Amino acid sequence: MERVPEGVDPTKPNTARVYNYLLGGKDNYAVDQAVAHRMLLAAPDSRTMAWFSRKFLAQAVTTAAVAGVRQFIDLGAGIPTTPSVHEVAKEVDPAARVVSVDYDPVVFAHANAMLAGVPGVTPMLADVRRPEELLERLEHEELIDFTQPVAILCVGVLHFVMDHEHPAEIVAHFREAMAPGSYLAFTHGCDNTHRDFVDMANSDTAGSPAQFILRPRDEVASYFKGFEMLEPGLVTVQQWLGDDLPATRLVILGGVCRKP
Ligand SMILES: C[S@@+](CC[C@H](N)C(=O)[O-])C[C@H]1O[C@@H](n2cnc3c(N)ncnc32)[C@H](O)[C@@H]1O
Repeated sequence: MERVPEGVDPTKPNTARVYNYLLGGKDNYAVDQAVAHRMLLAAPDSRTMAWFSRKFLAQAVTTAAVAGVRQFIDLGAGIPTTPSVHEVAKEVDPAARVVSVDYDPVVFAHANAMLAGVPGVTPMLADVRRPEELLERLEHEELIDFTQPVAILCVGVLHFVMDHEHPAEIVAHFREAMAPGSYLAFTHGCDNTHRDFVDMANSDTAGSPAQFILRPRDEVASYFKGFEMLEPGLVTVQQWLGDDLPATRLVILGGVCRKP
């Protein structure tokens, strides 16, 4: 599989560390900060967007947990950040279990160090673009009981999956494995993002694991056929959160859906 992050290299920018910097974390290097600064130049509200996105993730977890879901798969989990998926889920039920999946060894190392000893939380090094392999491991290692509802969080990840890597089919694999009553929450960068941001991101990340693709809303919506989309539907993350939050140059769509 192409475009996979390799080991810990402080000389190359890394998506998880850039995101960690935007969120105010300390697990990043100068090279990551430089990329984040260029993002902030093109879209000064990127940092705000990162926070809105985390808030969306937390509310989606609460929605599923309140509906009775007790097992969570966090796809492209990133470097652990508070509030994390397990912290939010365990507020509803301390017995909630979370598998925290990322394909980046940097994230895996941080997750192992930071989450060691947290009951019910398992970091896993795996690639979302290989859903069959990932589902097989989750089942075989008895981390997820697919006969029971599960919540899959796919926040800030699908726009790193290129067209030739078949994002719709990836989502379909997960949908087929999920029991009725399961939830899937996702965000995706939208193609009406400000042109300056798109140009900067394209020139900075082309061909690297950090390369991403901003897609039209209708195309993103088409990935979630077979699910019921909860209100308010597939809208910007700010509209989903409500409360008159400001629009951002970097436009991220979010939705929470349920398998009937
Ligand atoms: C922008 S961060 C989002 C982190 C977290 N989900 C959040 O919303 O705060 C994207 C994460 O997805 C991970 N990622 C990207 N492509 C992936 C893939 N194919 N398989 C697994 N993880 C992936 C990156 O390593 C990074 O940690």
